[in-house]
Amino acid sequence: MAALLPSSRPPRAELHVHLEGTLEPDLAFELAARNGVGLPYPDPASLRAAYEFEDLQSFLDLYTAGMSVLRTEADFADLTRAYLARVARAGVRHAEISFDPQAHLVRGVPLEAVVGGIARVLERSEAEHGISTLLIAAFHRDRDSAEALDVLERLLAMDAPIVGVGLDNAEVGYPPRLFQDVFARAELAGLRRTAHAGEEGPAANVREALDALHAERIDHGISVVQDPGLVARVVEQEVPFTVCPVSNVRLRAVPSLAEHPLPAMIEAGMLVSINSDDPPYFDAYVDDVDDAVTAAYGLTRDQRAGLAAASFRGSFLAQDRVDVHLAEVEAWRTAGA
Ligand code: HPA
Ligand code: ZN
Repeated sequence: MAALLPSSRPPRAELHVHLEGTLEPDLAFELAARNGVGLPYPDPASLRAAYEFEDLQSFLDLYTAGMSVLRTEADFADLTRAYLARVARAGVRHAEISFDPQAHLVRGVPLEAVVGGIARVLERSEAEHGISTLLIAAFHRDRDSAEALDVLERLLAMDAPIVGVGLDNAEVGYPPRLFQDVFARAELAGLRRTAHAGEEGPAANVREALDALHAERIDHGISVVQDPGLVARVVEQEVPFTVCPVSNVRLRAVPSLAEHPLPAMIEAGMLVSINSDDPPYFDAYVDDVDDAVTAAYGLTRDQRAGLAAASFRGSFLAQDRVDVHLAEVEAWRTAGA
């Protein structure tokens, strides 16, 4: 009988997730033992208990420390496989996954191990998990842009299977324009472009990401609501925003879901999707985020379908693939009517 009931969850794309931010404490301990790396916690439960954050930087400190267990190609493969297996149960049909090459290069982990481990799992994702995937190389905005440009050249030279580039890490004090050359090079190479902007920083960072970086998509972007003229522009240009409401609350960019600008962004007609960012760190995969916003805002099935549709429309997939997914979302919407 259960199989005949309409699924409780819409099919969706996840567009904003950091692969390194999907590291579950159990896997962290398993990899630590395998690689002989020490962790400053006695067990997975105490590591998880440390996931209380003051702001973005306090999270980034732990996120960066957690990565110390990722050393070999097999580690990156295991990490990628674990994320895909988990979100297959969350209704995810397409995932655009970011990774942070510089975070591993600075620790002496070769780019080939990082990219090779991720790529070999992504290649089989559609067959094994029913999830199509695209990979995004994100650059650290709090490091020198010359280093980012060098890493981009290396990714291009090795023909890494990336669809695009992103920009992440500490936002305040590191405006998008610092990475103009990197993004121009990416554009010249035919890569797609997304950037974190307006997470802790001002709406001006969203504008600058669009104008200086030619960003096609904005990650977070919640401060855009402070600039009504910019909201009108992104509505008119249908710029996708990958919003992570639970992350924003956990990193104290906003005090609570009740005070989060997501409903205002939707109401304004923006193309917004909901995403997890770094799921175990915020105790919420994208299905949990769906539950949280549905409860907080009393979303209807139609509104949830609207968010799921926006996730596909905001993706870097070809239009014919988007259309197939939109038909599936529509079937889910009407199945509950
Ligand atoms: N913001 C910036 N950098 C990040 C984030 C985030 O939310 N998650 C992982 N790296
Ligand atoms: Zn992010």
